[in-house]
Amino acid sequence: MIITREYASFAEARDSFGGSIGFVPTMGALHEGHLSLIRRAREENDHVIVSIFVNPTQFLEGEDLDKYPRREEADRKICELAGVDLLYLPSIDQIYEEDELSISAPKIRGYILEGASRPGHFDGMLQVVMKLLNLSRADRAYFGKKDAQQLVLIQQMVRNYFMKVQIVPCEIVRDADGLALSSRNVYLSPEERRRALSLSRSLKRAAKLVQSGERKSEVIRAVMTGILEPEVTELDYVAIVDRNFRPLEEVELGNTIILVAAKVGETRLIDNLWV
Ligand code: PAF
Repeated sequence: MIITREYASFAEARDSFGGSIGFVPTMGALHEGHLSLIRRAREENDHVIVSIFVNPTQFLEGEDLDKYPRREEADRKICELAGVDLLYLPSIDQIYEEDELSISAPKIRGYILEGASRPGHFDGMLQVVMKLLNLSRADRAYFGKKDAQQLVLIQQMVRNYFMKVQIVPCEIVRDADGLALSSRNVYLSPEERRRALSLSRSLKRAAKLVQSGERKSEVIRAVMTGILEPEVTELDYVAIVDRNFRPLEEVELGNTIILVAAKVGETRLIDNLWV
């Protein structure tokens, strides 16, 4: 595995690869969720590139940029064992210069739900993903469905800017107790973790309701809220949208995402279900 922090040596290594390239951009603190993306990239491509970059422009003032978990040594080992060919660990000045061009998330889809709670987050996320996709010149890039709105906005950016990369959505990976894997789960105390399970429990209940024929978003949202409110510290939203993030009054099978975001203690968690 080639490990580099410099753009020049990254580009040189990248250019030495023949065949197809799969790319997994991450912010590090790698877990089974990331590994599932890397494994899929390994299966579907001749070469796999992973980047680890805690991107400052997608964190809002007062968010957890400084305490975001950083585990470079462990991450390197995980990448090595997973058969990654090139690991890019750029510093901020390798990615950004002063007075940058910026990318703006779409005014509606980028500013509802996560975008409403974290205004500007998606601008920064799209900006760095555009850079990383251009740097890697990958054939395929792998993103988890857990960050559903992020995934849909990246697909839109690729469409809107006529980029050639194929975005591959990957299934959510959960712990045995149902909690969706996230690098931020390490912030949870054992008691908070127990309460955090209400997110996946509410989604499971929503799935059951849909299976039994319920289609009304209002009914599903009310049942989910009833499960969540006694457990979470602050319920941010329960939303039912189509795959383009337009709100739905009724669930459309094959075209619906049910989303939840809540704070448990100080930790903000998101989870969702694609039906
Ligand atoms: O999902 C993430 O870890 C980040 O948002 C990403 C896509 C690596 C961009 O910084």
